[in-house]
Amino acid sequence: MKEIAVITGASSGIGEAFVKEICASDETLDEIWIIARRSDKLDALVALTGDRRLRPVKADLTDPEDLESLGTRLSSGDYRVALLINCAGLGKRGNVENNELEDIAATINVNCQSLTLLTKIVLPFMKTSEEKKKGGRIINIASSAAFLPQPGFAVYSASKSYVLNFSRALGAELAPKGIVVTAVCPGPVATEFLGKATNGRETEFSGIRKNVVADAGKLAEASLKASYRGRKILVYKFSQKLFHFASKALPTSLILHFEQKLLKN
Ligand SMILES: NC(=O)c1ccc[n+]([C@@H]2O[C@H](COP(=O)([O-])OP(=O)(O)OC[C@H]3O[C@@H](n4cnc5c(N)ncnc54)[C@H](OP(=O)(O)O)[C@@H]3O)[C@@H](O)[C@H]2O)c1
Repeated sequence: MKEIAVITGASSGIGEAFVKEICASDETLDEIWIIARRSDKLDALVALTGDRRLRPVKADLTDPEDLESLGTRLSSGDYRVALLINCAGLGKRGNVENNELEDIAATINVNCQSLTLLTKIVLPFMKTSEEKKKGGRIINIASSAAFLPQPGFAVYSASKSYVLNFSRALGAELAPKGIVVTAVCPGPVATEFLGKATNGRETEFSGIRKNVVADAGKLAEASLKASYRGRKILVYKFSQKLFHFASKALPTSLILHFEQKLLKN
């Protein structure tokens, strides 16, 4: 039986950082499946790490056939999934009335639907604690945008609330099998994300966000540690913990008021 990791969003940013961190620190896995549409980026990652366990899988997670073939691939071998990282995601800045229909659909599809369907497809193959070892682990990349509605990023923040709530409920369902589900909630991270979210208008965070930008590698390392420790949620870093606390302690309307003033740029 082969113990494997399945990682989406592996072609850039946080997903790529997870792959590098796992290659460097985990010797227990037999194969590491790295999933994205840009196969050239996946191949480059294989060349960069030189890790023979990496298996690039070109897949569009919004395509039902690609999702189905991942399931077929899992059932075609003797695989046990020790780690599933749902990292693929996107968002488009702007008010809903100005957002493109296809961008709204892609955000909901990749961030919510495909994350849920892939998890469902992988679950029968997850390692459980019945095998006298610790069970498998699922890491879902949510965001601190999950804590509150965010005007100007409404679909994205709502999609991440879904990821957070889905992860918490799934974790409770899977606890008897020893499978840990960790929802990771970072604030701004330096990746390609912002450029895509603004159609290239901005590539670096500015304003208040500039001071709290996180490094993708450090985030990946902290997320893996949190998951090993069985944490259900990782709010990454201190600034986002403050934001999380405020989102629980203060009236939503008040925070929305300040959010709109502070996050203008
Ligand atoms: N960067 C931030 O500030 C930040 C903050 C909080 C949370 N997050 C979350 O972190 C996760 C990773 O984002 P990132 O910052 O690393 O951004 P990124 O560099 O743009 O990475 C996004 C990844 O998602 C993949 N992806 C997008 N659509 C896909 C599709 N239809 N099928 C398959 N793969 C798809 C992309 O691969 P291909 O394009 O090659 O398919 C890419 O590997 C996302 O869920 C994001 O919401 C990011």
